[in-house]
Amino acid sequence: AESILETIDRLCAVVPNYPTPGVTFRDLTPVFADGPALRGMVDALLAEFEGTFDFVAGVEARGFLLAAAAAYASGHGVITVRKPGKLPRPTYNETYSMEYGTNSLEVHIGDIPHGSRVLVLDDVLATGGTLGATARLIERAGSSVAGIGVVLELDGLGGRENLAGYKVHSLRTY
Ligand code: PRP
Ligand code: MG
Repeated sequence: AESILETIDRLCAVVPNYPTPGVTFRDLTPVFADGPALRGMVDALLAEFEGTFDFVAGVEARGFLLAAAAAYASGHGVITVRKPGKLPRPTYNETYSMEYGTNSLEVHIGDIPHGSRVLVLDDVLATGGTLGATARLIERAGSSVAGIGVVLELDGLGGRENLAGYKVHSLRTY
C-alpha cells in the first residue's frame, strides 16, 4: 500500500515562481481534497501523539482543517488560534516577525483550561514564526504544548530551530 508520504508526494501540487520568482510553492489543497489522503494525514499525526494531549489547537486558517478532523477523530475539543481582531472576548496576543513586518495570533483567555496538554496542528512549518507564537499563547494560558504536528516542513528556513524544545513531527520534508 502507498505510504502517507507517497500520497502527499503524489497529490501535492508544485507551483514554480509563486508567490515570488524563484520560490517553489507546495500547494496541499489537492491532498486535502482527497478523502483517503486527508484521513491518512490526520491518522498519521494522531498516531505520533496518541495519549499525550487533551485538546487540539488549530492555527487559522489552514491549520483549522487538520485540527477539527483530528479533534473529532480523537474525541477531544478544538482550540481556535486566530488572526488578530477576530475573537470577540479578551485574548492573549503573541507577535511574530515575517519577511515583511510582523503579524500576531490570538486565543481567548479562558478557552484553554489551566494545565491542559495541547497538540498543535498546522499545514506547513516554514520559519516557525506561526507555530512559535502559537506555542507561546498556549503557555501564557498556563498549559503545555504536547507536540506540534505539520504535514509539510520546509527545510532551511529555521523552523525546527525556532521550535527547539518542542516535539515536532512532520509527515514530509522538502
Ligand atoms: C502559512 C501556513 C502556516 C505558516 C507557515 O499560513 O499555513 O500557517 O504560513 O509559515 P511560518 O512557519 O513561516 O510562520 P499563512 O500565514 O499564509 O495563512 P493561512 O493559513 O491563513 O493561509
Ligand atoms: Mg497558516
